[in-house]
Amino acid sequence: MNVWKFVLIVLAGALAGGAAYAGGPGDPAVASSDNGKYADKDGNPTYKISGEGVVDWYTFSGFRRYHSDCHVCHGPNGDGSSLAPALANSLKTMSYADFANVVTNGRQNVNAANDKVMPAFGTNANVMCYLDDIYVYLRARANNAIPGGRPPSHEDKPEAAKQADASCMGTK
Ligand code: HEC
Repeated sequence: MNVWKFVLIVLAGALAGGAAYAGGPGDPAVASSDNGKYADKDGNPTYKISGEGVVDWYTFSGFRRYHSDCHVCHGPNGDGSSLAPALANSLKTMSYADFANVVTNGRQNVNAANDKVMPAFGTNANVMCYLDDIYVYLRARANNAIPGGRPPSHEDKPEAAKQADASCMGTK
């Protein structure tokens, strides 16, 4: 597994994104789609929720990934806990690039009054291969597009997601 590939992708994203969208996440409305993956008008990943709460595959996948790697600190449904902030709130103002940067590199807020450490996930394929999935899930939560809990129904897993699993997770 080539960890540096992730680091470069995220760095490039941070540079491009930092300049263009420093103001925040922007409008989450779907502007384009590619093989079941949706993007907003700035090209950042976004969610799509159709009638009766049917979520796109990546939002569903992000729900699962979030609840396997993040919820112990950030609480179920992105609602926060005494250990770490509510990401359903953070993503109201945080850009995609800033999100990717914190998750990849971690962040520390340690001083006399605080001992808060966000671990760096840059070498964890279970997180890095699904960074966009986790992002769109939390973006949907931040915009109240889905309630807490497991989405009752989702679009089929796109072929592109199957291929990405194989190449990113190294199971080819
Ligand atoms: C061991 C506990 C822990 C785990 C697990 C964890 N985090 Fe964090 N995270 C934190 C803490 C503590 C902070 C606040 C750090 C600070 O105060 O600077 C934080 C901050 C963040 C922030 C910045 C929020 C803001 O408002 O600025 C993001 C984004 C984030 N985490 C995403 C994630 C994601 C995504 C996962 C799962 C892949 C995850 N975290 C897993 C503890 C954790």
